[in-house]
Amino acid sequence: MNISLKDYEIIFDDTLSSLPNFLAEHKYSKVFVVVDENTKQHCLPILQNVLTAIEIIETKSGEIYKNIATCEFIWQQLIEQNADRKSVIINLGGGVIGDMSGFAASCYKRGIDFINIPTTLLSQVDSSIGGKLGIDFKYGKNLIGLFRNPKLVLVSSQFLKTLPKRQFINGWSEIIKHALIKDKAQWLLYKNIDIHNCDMNAIVFHSLQIKKAVVEADPYENGLRKILNFGHTIGHAIEAYSLEHDETPLLHGEAIAIGMICESFLSVKKCGLTQDELNEITKLILKYFPKYNIENYNTDKIITSMLSDKKNNATKILAALLSEIGNSVFDIEINKDEILESLNYYNSL
Ligand SMILES: NC(=O)c1ccc[n+]([C@@H]2O[C@H](COP(=O)([O-])OP(=O)(O)OC[C@H]3O[C@@H](n4cnc5c(N)ncnc54)[C@H](O)[C@@H]3O)[C@@H](O)[C@H]2O)c1
Repeated sequence: MNISLKDYEIIFDDTLSSLPNFLAEHKYSKVFVVVDENTKQHCLPILQNVLTAIEIIETKSGEIYKNIATCEFIWQQLIEQNADRKSVIINLGGGVIGDMSGFAASCYKRGIDFINIPTTLLSQVDSSIGGKLGIDFKYGKNLIGLFRNPKLVLVSSQFLKTLPKRQFINGWSEIIKHALIKDKAQWLLYKNIDIHNCDMNAIVFHSLQIKKAVVEADPYENGLRKILNFGHTIGHAIEAYSLEHDETPLLHGEAIAIGMICESFLSVKKCGLTQDELNEITKLILKYFPKYNIENYNTDKIITSMLSDKKNNATKILAALLSEIGNSVFDIEINKDEILESLNYYNSL
């Protein structure tokens, strides 16, 4: 099972056996593998079954380490181990490693190749493709970064076996999003399956095809790609607030799940989604993502954070909303009162 994009392929390869040939064909001088302590323990042994001549760069797990200091550490390791422009980096990890180490690779000596081997469900269905790379900065998430594609993406369902349950569910929010914005048939399927007992390769394959179609039509997010931000206008602001204030912050997918409920509520008000569809969406999302207590979040701060989001300008907040399940529209302006109303809807559930 493969998906071909314009510049690279996504290969579904449970054993990673296609990797040695790919590396040999590209005549890389050295292979660096960036891991964190969890992917070093659970995922590196699977990679080492097919590849031994590698240099390992170990970072610390967690969003708080997706920053310039960790990039400096990666660059220092590359320099100390004589990485040249024909070296390649394998990003073995979730979205944090993919975004950050892809960014580090893209800056090192004006850019060296990188390969993504996503090891979380979220990174398999979302962050490993589309070319968005970057790190968080003191003023917000993903503020420093660029667009650049990997040379190859390898997807293996082996990695999902060691993923903590919370992280597995987290990935489902982007799978649900892809169906809601572009694929009603897939949505109907998700209403009836047992997510803990289904063919994950088939689900990831389908979800990636939706993302592929969108990012290839609009690689730099000038138009259509904005539909991928459904749930993210409100969700990102909630995620940022939670990261700053909660002892156990919401994960990305959890915050996006809240954002999707709020933005579905706004879709009824503004874009023609029916009340029945809203009820259906709310029910399915709450089945996987139980209600989070966000009632004491400071809504002024959340709205200010939306205004400073790089996807908006300083005066208008724009969102991608649903016109029906399986169809979406973008650049819909939402105002402060509407956002508050949607948060009240979530809190009332
Ligand atoms: N570039 C994009 O288009 C894009 C899209 C969505 C999200 N993102 C970014 O992705 C990041 C979130 O990614 P994530 O959800 O993958 O989180 P993550 O990378 O933080 O990984 C989650 C946790 O799981 C551990 N882990 C990873 N694989 C494992 C495995 N197979 N077994 C056991 N533990 C494992 C990690 O060490 C970490 O502790 C955020 O920074 C977000 O901004 C980027």
